[in-house]
Parts: sequence; structure tokens; C-alpha cells
Amino acid sequence: MTEPAAPLTPFPLSALLDRIAREWSSRNRIFDMPTARFFDVSNGPDLSVDFMGRVAATPIGPAAGPHSQLAQNIVLSWLGGARIFELKTVQILDQLEIKRPCIDMETVGYNIEWSQELRIHESLDEYVKAWMIIEILRDWDELTPLIGADPGPHVFDISVGYDLAGVSDPGVAEFIDGLTDAAESIERLRPEIVEPFEGWRRHPFPTRIADTATLSTFHGCPPNEIEAITKHLMTRHHLDVVVKLNPTLLGFERVSQIVNDELGYDEVVLRPEDFDADLQMDRGLELIDELEKFAVDNGRRFGIKLTNTLVVQNHRTFLPDDPMYLSGPPLHVVSMTLLETLDAALPGRLAIDGQPGAIQVSFSAGINKENFAESAGLGLAPVTVCSDLLKPGGYGRIKPMLKALQMKLVDAGHPDLAALQAARSQQPDGAVATYVATLHDAEKNMAYTRHGTSKLPRQVDHVLEMWGCVACNLCVTVCPNDAFFKLPTVKDLQMEGRQQYFVLAELCNECGNCLTFCPEEGDPAFIKPRLFFDPDRFSSATGQAFLLTGDDGLGITAAAGFEAEVANLAASLSQSEGLPVRGVYQD
Ligand SMILES: Cc1cc2nc3c(=O)[nH]c(=O)nc-3n(C[C@H](O)[C@H](O)[C@H](O)COP(=O)(O)O)c2cc1C
Ligand code: SF4
Ligand code: SF4
Repeated sequence: MTEPAAPLTPFPLSALLDRIAREWSSRNRIFDMPTARFFDVSNGPDLSVDFMGRVAATPIGPAAGPHSQLAQNIVLSWLGGARIFELKTVQILDQLEIKRPCIDMETVGYNIEWSQELRIHESLDEYVKAWMIIEILRDWDELTPLIGADPGPHVFDISVGYDLAGVSDPGVAEFIDGLTDAAESIERLRPEIVEPFEGWRRHPFPTRIADTATLSTFHGCPPNEIEAITKHLMTRHHLDVVVKLNPTLLGFERVSQIVNDELGYDEVVLRPEDFDADLQMDRGLELIDELEKFAVDNGRRFGIKLTNTLVVQNHRTFLPDDPMYLSGPPLHVVSMTLLETLDAALPGRLAIDGQPGAIQVSFSAGINKENFAESAGLGLAPVTVCSDLLKPGGYGRIKPMLKALQMKLVDAGHPDLAALQAARSQQPDGAVATYVATLHDAEKNMAYTRHGTSKLPRQVDHVLEMWGCVACNLCVTVCPNDAFFKLPTVKDLQMEGRQQYFVLAELCNECGNCLTFCPEEGDPAFIKPRLFFDPDRFSSATGQAFLLTGDDGLGITAAAGFEAEVANLAASLSQSEGLPVRGVYQD
């Protein structure tokens, strides 16, 4: 029996580097990100943080999710200023069938997606490719005026789940070993370094890509296995380990009180049985005790992460599965409340709020430009983001968060982030309690309420067409995989509008995010021309598919019924991208 194809076909390293060089020379962008969105860590106060003994130049990064799965996604975050990357969770089941669409960011966040959509060995390659590209770009002279001469250190953090048998499986073990010592992968990929980057073919790429892991305790991860998995990661793989906790730890009553009553999300249905099946507070505190002690005894570091998404009943019609998982603003209030609860239960033990505690705390829940600086000021590291990066602007939203933090430091006269954290901790009630009080204050927490998050994406009264639209560019920025790109309209052809939009079909997993934000009527991922490089994928595609072949000039094959459209595509690629078209064919 043949295996079902993975929903994504990553681009080879050579193609990614070629794309960087081509876009840079033709459009002064990298993976469609304009240079105005690149962040220079050296231009402003020092934002560096300690993450379990490793230094990262900024406290921010993508949370495990769609922004840390493919190599170009990780590179985009890095260009925006991210320096701690919680890599997409890898688990033994690498042929899951996830229903589509799987992301609903219309108001707050909902999703039905979990763990990697690549084969395990492909995930390993994506992380190694991202690591190598960042290593190249940090020294690329072209970027020095934009990202500074020293973009500072960054950390790749492995994410694994979801049970002991899976994490101990040889396939997952090989994946982890392949990141703690990536020499073999790097040597295999090295010949793929193409012009103008060939000087890096002999570069001594660091081979220890990651030596920390975050354990996702989601999706049925048995609470009684968390301890054993953490110990396994510490002893078998010599990793420092963060356990990512779920918001259910706060308990059904309290979460319901916050989400339904205080914040007004009447429509969100929480199910007691989901809370009962998850880790309970008493056991959670015991676990933290035990694992902190175990880490010390074994010369390792231990941390916790708050939180993963909140399991809720599917009350909407967009996502075709039940339950679904809530993220974004309401989760921020829940997870910060959980932080306060744990801090109170473990006095002085968490490494936040100026306390001497050894337990690292990282955070991901509803982080955005408005609350990032406040959250980083608590001592949380890293502060990671998922839902906000799925909103218009995408990866370009990281830089404004970092700028807001820098502004806060400058305004308060603090030379660095550590000084801000120290000052915050001097507040009479402590920084965490003071901040959490504002999140429960009806006069201050409007941005987290149902009312405050109810604004819908803009719509226009027009049916989307293959050639021409309002050219708002939202599909390009909201796509986590950078599957969309645009080219200027070629005059005198049958095309409307200023720009034309194209889908790199092999990078599109049909997540639905561009559909949510496209203001026109229709699904851009299926109405705009879908470009394929893989003949097998092309032959099984339906609709407006085009196969691109050849190195020394493009051959374009149109799917049946779309022959007439080839002229527009050929003109766009040859005139705007300088790609000579060798011939056009019919399927
Ligand atoms: C589409 C999507 C996919 C996600 N995939 C993972 C995952 O693979 N592993 C994981 O630990 N968390 C995953 N998460 C949870 C995020 O890492 C993060 O903890 C959560 O979304 C809260 O942050 P946010 O409010 O900024 O989205 C995912 C979240 C979303 C929205
Ligand atoms: S093109 Fe649209 S549907 Fe496809 S991955 Fe990107 S956002 Fe998702
Ligand atoms: S396809 Fe939709 S989202 Fe993309 S540019 Fe056109 S109107 Fe905007």
C-alpha cells in the first residue's frame, strides 16, 4: 500500500537559498517580508534573556505551531527579531489526517491542528535547513545595514509529545539525536548551498542545534506519563526540559468563571470531562517538585510553560472537527491567572518577578503588541506567539512588539530588559499579581473580552477572480508558510488590478487562514493560480493548477481547462521575475 502524501512538500535548501537571492535582487524582500519588518537587535536597549542557561538576544519567538514547522517560517521569525524558537511539535504519529480548514482566526483563535504535518525525517531537515540559512544570513553583507553586524544568539527548542512510548520510539529518538548533533544532516545539505552563498559551503556550521526540549502535554498525553517522559528526555538525551502545561490545570470552575462570566464569551462551551482527563493541580504541584529535584540531581535544568490552547466544544461552523482549541486574548487572562496561582503555590520557586527560583517559566497565550512588553517585564522567557502572527501582518508583527518593549525601557530609563524586570518586581504586590489584577478589572480588560474581540475582518462586495482582486496583500502576510506571493500586473494582458497573487501549492496545507482574511468572496488558496513543482502532486491536483519544470528556463504545463491562462502566468514570471519561459504545455 502506498503511503498518503504529506500535506506539505518542503522546498529543498537550494531552492530556498535561490528564492532568497532572487527575491532580494528583484524585490528587496526575503520570503515576501519587506526590509522595514526586519529587526536590528543592536539598535536600542539590550533585550537579551537567559533561557535555561543559554542566552538569546530577544525574549520572543514563535510558539510551537504553524510558524515553526517549515524552514522559511523559522527564518521569517528570525528576520522579524525572534530569537527563541519553540519548534513545531514532533511525535511518532507522522501521518495524521487533519481535517481542513484547521485554523479559524476570525475573532479570537480556534484550531483543530496538532503536531507536525511532515514525516519525522522531514521535520528534522526543516529545522537543520532553517539553522543553516540563519547562520548564512546573519553574516550576509547585504543584510548588515538592516539587522546589524551582530544579530545576537538564538535558541532552537525541540518540542515533542505526546506519550512515553512515542517519545521513546527509535524514530523520535533519532530525530532528537539529529538535532543535538546535526553534523550528518549538515554535511548532506552542504552541497545544496548555491550562489550567491557558495562561500558558506565550507562554513563551520555549529552542529549542536538544540539541547532543550519542551514537552507538549496535550492531545491525550497521559498525566501519569509526564514525569517519566521528562526524565527520559533528561537522561537518555541529556536535554534541559520545559513541561508545557494546559489551561485546564486552573480547573473547570475558575476557567469557566473567567471565560464565560468575566470576559463574556457565553458561546464558549467548556466540558468538565476534558478538565477531568487532564493533569490536576495537586498532582501538577507534586510533579513540579519531583522534576525540579530530579533535574538538580542529574545536572539538568527544568522549567514550565504556560500554556497550550484550551479545549472547547466546537460551537462554530468553520472548523470541521470537535473539540476545537481556543487561543488568543481570552487564553491570555486564563494563563496569566494560572501563573499567579502557581506562583502563590510555589513561593519563590519560579524564576519570575525578581525571585531567586530555579524553575524557568516560559509563556504563550494571547501575546500581542499591547501586552508583550508587560509579559516580558515579568521575567518570562521566552514569550512566544502563535495566534497574533496569524493575523494580518503575520511575521511582520514581531518587530512592533520588540519596538514596544524597547520604548518601554527607554521611557523608564532602563538600560536593558533585566533592569525593567528588577524594577517591576519592586511593586508592593509583586509584578505578576499587579498585572493579573488589571486583567480581571472590568475597566481595564476590554481588549480581552468578547466585546473587545468581536470585530470581524473587512469584507468587500466582490467575487474573487483568478486574475485581479483588491490586492490587499493579506493572503501573503497571514499565510504562515509563505505559500502566497505577488507580482506586479503585466500591462496589456487579461489581468485586472495592480498585483497578481500566486500560490506555491506544495507549501499550502489548506489551513484556511487566507480564506478568513481575504476581503473578497471566495477562497484565495483555490481561486488564485496554484503553482506546482512536483509532477505527481500536479497530476492529482484539481482546478487551476500549473506545473513549473526546468532549470535553464521554465516549462509551464497547464491543467486541462486552464490553457488560456498560461499567457498571463508566463508573462508575469518572465517580466517580473526575469525567468525565461522555455515552453508551455497542456496536461
Ligand atoms: C494552529 C495552531 C497549531 C498549534 N500547534 C501546536 C503544536 O504543534 N504543539 C504545541 O505544543 N502547541 C501548539 N499550538 C499551541 C501554541 O503553541 C500556543 O501555546 C497557543 O496557541 C497559545 O498561544 P497564542 O494565544 O499566542 O496562540 C498550536 C496553536 C495553534 C493556533
Ligand atoms: S495559502 Fe492559505 S490555506 Fe494555504 S497554507 Fe497559506 S494561509 Fe493556509
Ligand atoms: S486574494 Fe484576497 S487577500 Fe489576497 S490580495 Fe487578493 S483580495 Fe487580498
